[in-house]
Amino acid sequence: MDEDPPCHPEPFKIKMIERIHLHPREKRKELIEKSGYNVFKLKSEDVFIDLLTDSGTSAMSDSQWAGMLETSQVYAGSPSYYALEKAMKDIFGFKHYVPVHQGRAAENILFSTVVKEGSYVPNNMHFDTTEANILRNKGTPVNLAVEEAYDTAKLAPFKGNMDVSKLEKFIREKTPAKIPVIMVTVTNNSAGGQPVSVKNIRETSIVAKRYGIPFFIDACRFAENSYFIKRREEGYENHSLKEIANEVFSYADGCTFSGKKEALTNIGGMLCANDDELFKELNNLTIVIEGFTTYGGLACRELEAMARGLYEVIDEEYQAYRHRQIEYFAGLLRKSGVPIVEPPGGHAVFVDAGKFLPHIQAEQFPAQALTAQLYVESGVRAVEIGSSCFGKTDEKTGEFIPARMELMRLAIPRRTYTDNHLRYVAESLICLYKKRGQIKGLRRVYAPKLLSHFTAKFEPVG
Ligand SMILES: Cc1ncc(COP(=O)(O)O)c(C=O)c1O
Repeated sequence: MDEDPPCHPEPFKIKMIERIHLHPREKRKELIEKSGYNVFKLKSEDVFIDLLTDSGTSAMSDSQWAGMLETSQVYAGSPSYYALEKAMKDIFGFKHYVPVHQGRAAENILFSTVVKEGSYVPNNMHFDTTEANILRNKGTPVNLAVEEAYDTAKLAPFKGNMDVSKLEKFIREKTPAKIPVIMVTVTNNSAGGQPVSVKNIRETSIVAKRYGIPFFIDACRFAENSYFIKRREEGYENHSLKEIANEVFSYADGCTFSGKKEALTNIGGMLCANDDELFKELNNLTIVIEGFTTYGGLACRELEAMARGLYEVIDEEYQAYRHRQIEYFAGLLRKSGVPIVEPPGGHAVFVDAGKFLPHIQAEQFPAQALTAQLYVESGVRAVEIGSSCFGKTDEKTGEFIPARMELMRLAIPRRTYTDNHLRYVAESLICLYKKRGQIKGLRRVYAPKLLSHFTAKFEPVG
């Protein structure tokens, strides 16, 4: 009689809505053709359910909106900067912080400062923006995730982990002098939003310290990762999410953070570091390219929304609902045989497009083809995380090297869509799965060198 209900419903109710529209199929077909089969080019008003990203798409709370109105807009030393600093000290615990306008700005500042020609930056798996910011500075991004991260069907609790012995071997081979920073991304977005354990982070930091290399965390989804740790890692079941985050960050020398995910805001980010000398350099570059250090390219209202959002994201009831909703969505797809990355990650369900469309070769971009066709089928916008995003062209031979995985990501914006919206997406995808043999591959007719998937253009093959 005294037990809680078994499922975790939304720990909030809806106060404001935004009307969305589903165009007829013929119009969707015409729009995807016009966009060069690249959903980044679609107008959002032409999208029915938008699962392109969980970044900057959260619904903010009444408390966040209220704080945005209450704060004062000043150039230096706003109360919201200090509120954010207090939240960051409390949850992240690093010695120094500077706000930036989004995660990639923090990456740009960090890598422009420490990466030189010939540098290597190992990570469990880089995201496209960390990869691009390292390449821009003439460094080489290196992925050293555990092998099971690449096995989409394998059930394991921490498939996002760094392969620590591979990391140590790599450091010895390249020498520490060529490695200005080691990173770990939590959760591991490129591998399907898979979590990283505390044990793995601790071991990575021990290796980094052994060779005198700074260790930074790409902390975009630190709270979802903390919830996974609480549920899956022995010894953490009675820890609060804040305690887990405190411990995770205590092993690092700094972090980059996109507030567009887990500060539950629509813009914002942070760069943190413990080292006084390094931080001085980072701080000075921030002033040059982002703005003064107490606003970092943001309006003060955005600092306030981040300060409040950081506490909302570590609310355990919120995380329980979020993880339950993603599991519900994944379960619908799993039941109908749609190949997804298992177990599902913390911010998205990833479809294994290579298995969904085995008749389409990687050179014909199966995940891109599936993403385009899902839009035609349902008005749903997903995103390709496959060879358009991570494929490479060998500069010497011109040969195309496909990505190791062909994934389509269905990212779930935070506090935005109901289970019923996700049921519609699952039913549409299941429909498409039944007629998957009819989906054709794509030929890429345009792609810039860096972050090509944003602006690439495609044509149907045949
Ligand atoms: C793991 C990871 N790192 C960095 C970023 C970059 O953050 P932003 O989009 O705020 O620049 C993202 C964004 O999706 C991400 O998922």
